[in-house]
Amino acid sequence: MGVPRSFVFWSLLSVVLTQRVKVRNEVTGYVGDEAMLQCLFPATSPDIKVSQVTWMKEMGGKKQNVAVYLPDHKPNFPLDNSGRIRFLNVSLQDATLIIQPLRMSDEGTYVCEFATYPHGNEDGITTLSILARPTNTAESRKVVVGNTTIPVAICTSANGKPPAHIKWLTTLPGSYNASEVTNGDGTVTVTSQFNMVPTAVADQQQITCVISQRTLAVPENIPVTLSVLYPPQVTIDGYDDNWYMSRSEAVLRCTAKGNPKPTHYSWSTPSGPLPPTVQVQGDRLVVQSVDVAVNTTFICHVTNSVGTTRVEQTVLVREHPMRLQSSAGAVAGGLVGGILALALLGALVFFLLRRRRTRPPVKGAYDSSTRVFGNGAAPPPSLIYRPNSELDRPLRATPGEGAPGEQSGPYSYPGQRHEEEEEGERLDEVGPILQLSAHPGHGAPSGYEDDDMESQHDGSIISKTAVYV
Ligand SMILES: *[C@@H]1O[C@H](CO)[C@@H](O)[C@H](O)[C@H]1NC(C)=O
Ligand SMILES: *[C@@H]1O[C@H](CO)[C@@H](O)[C@H](O)[C@H]1NC(C)=O
Ligand SMILES: *[C@@H]1O[C@H](CO)[C@@H](O)[C@H](O)[C@H]1NC(C)=O
Ligand SMILES: *[C@@H]1O[C@H](CO)[C@@H](O)[C@H](O)[C@H]1NC(C)=O
Repeated sequence: MGVPRSFVFWSLLSVVLTQRVKVRNEVTGYVGDEAMLQCLFPATSPDIKVSQVTWMKEMGGKKQNVAVYLPDHKPNFPLDNSGRIRFLNVSLQDATLIIQPLRMSDEGTYVCEFATYPHGNEDGITTLSILARPTNTAESRKVVVGNTTIPVAICTSANGKPPAHIKWLTTLPGSYNASEVTNGDGTVTVTSQFNMVPTAVADQQQITCVISQRTLAVPENIPVTLSVLYPPQVTIDGYDDNWYMSRSEAVLRCTAKGNPKPTHYSWSTPSGPLPPTVQVQGDRLVVQSVDVAVNTTFICHVTNSVGTTRVEQTVLVREHPMRLQSSAGAVAGGLVGGILALALLGALVFFLLRRRRTRPPVKGAYDSSTRVFGNGAAPPPSLIYRPNSELDRPLRATPGEGAPGEQSGPYSYPGQRHEEEEEGERLDEVGPILQLSAHPGHGAPSGYEDDDMESQHDGSIISKTAVYV
């Protein structure tokens, strides 16, 4: 509606006309490779006669003939007849041109023209672009730490066509700029530099150069490790503020980093020479036995090719290892206390376990019987007390497996130890079972005595009597 009819008409007409000659708008190729410039003029009607096929190249605003074919004549190649340029088929319908090997100078705009009757000349236009893969490199520059912005890394994409785009990936503060140089063969070398204020922190950091170019399927990433030279950064370690008289093996260590790596360390005092009692071992200053001469300030100088850094450490020699004593005393006290507490806890736990393993006594009962069969639950060591026996002697409990060698303390009865232990050993094979040497009769039912005797013979079932007071 807004578009004039005449415009639409002429647009349609031009499409129809350009469609008559079939060409590709753009053809690309690499130097040394082959390029095929397709150009077809399909015979749409027998009334149309083609009299000549011509390829021309636009050069400096003028058209130069590249290839010409007339029936009854050999194809002719006025621009370059070395054989590099030829027709694919020698035909009046197919003017496809082959250029091989490609040169950078072949780039340009080509016109394929068919001379026809009765319509006159019909043509198609093809742009030939020659591509060149660039050679990409990146490197850091050795720079010295400073206050001004300087290039710290360079990335180059050489001899590319079309020119590459270069950017940098980094978290470091900086910027980059690039420049292009067109080479004699038409390729372009792009150089990008990354600029920043060189700091020690940036040393050994990695930044990445990213190169994008038409011939690269994916951008090429080249990592670069920065190198910033800086003078040594020095600290003195080892002083614990507790150098006391006669302390042995007091050591100061001078720690330094730098680029290049510092190699030379030297120690001194404000007055110059070191006290005779100290030894220098490279980056270490060793005092075998602290004395008053060490009551001074020590200076460490560290040097690399960028510079020298000096750091001081003042040593205060104390008469006594005050802090160590108190802290060591606290530690020792804590240790002893802890061990004592553990021992007490252990004793308590042991006592409680023993109590638990003893069957709860029936208060006030003189006769509490327990039968234990086979390898059942660990029996408690028990005692028998017989009020009417000839002696008011408690009998020693034979230790079970659970408490080997455990003596029953005050309940032991030396006179009976031997036979009880013998029996105990035998019974231990059956299980941790208490063996009692009992006086028959008094206080205990005789049946248990019988059981007891039987068990001792067959070894599998033990019955015993326990009376706990
Ligand atoms: C042109 O040559 C190709 C092979 O070289 C062939 O396949 C094709 O048919 C030819 N076209 C014409 C029109 O001669
Ligand atoms: C950097 O600048 C500071 C003050 O801005 C100055 O003290 C220092 O000497 C400068 N360092 C160098 C290497 O120029
Ligand atoms: C980047 O810019 C600086 C200053 O403008 C210039 O000296 C330098 O040559 C430029 N670098 C490149 C690679 O063009
Ligand atoms: C070390 O020097 C300080 C003063 O610098 C002094 O107070 C201290 O008593 C000195 N130590 C010894 C052991 O002489």
